[in-house]
Amino acid sequence: MNNQKILIEKAFEAQQFCYTPYSNFNVGAALLCSDGTIYTGCNIENAAFTPTNCAERTAFFKAVSEGHKDFAAIAIVGNKAGLEVGQGDYCAPCAVCRQVMAEFCDLKTFKIYMAKDYDDYLEYTLEELLPHAFTPKDLED
Ligand code: THU
Repeated sequence: MNNQKILIEKAFEAQQFCYTPYSNFNVGAALLCSDGTIYTGCNIENAAFTPTNCAERTAFFKAVSEGHKDFAAIAIVGNKAGLEVGQGDYCAPCAVCRQVMAEFCDLKTFKIYMAKDYDDYLEYTLEELLPHAFTPKDLED
């Protein structure tokens, strides 16, 4: 199985763990590290709303907190609760998650797969989704 398929499957698995009592919008993500390790994430909401964490950032923060900082790709799935795999639409990462990706990932090579089914996905580079990114390079001397 290719990377995309594995990641998409893992993103759908992670989606099942989402905590979304307020939006009922369920997101799952699977992040591929350059060494082949995969970290998953789901969205985790909060009664105070703003502490909500997106699925993508959950995956990134899990990975970074365990020593990983080199990433190759992420698969993202998201849809309203109650839909079966394949019934939803493509789910794009929010702007905050794109910015977190830009902190760690190469704009030209990091791949983002937005999937609505195991074999139905859109593929973008981070640069395509976040042109003219503000990155750590901008803070260098
Ligand atoms: N959400 C994500 O998990 N990732 C995104 O990139 C888009 C939005 C979540 C946040 C919130 O729990 C729900 O989707 C509705 O915005």
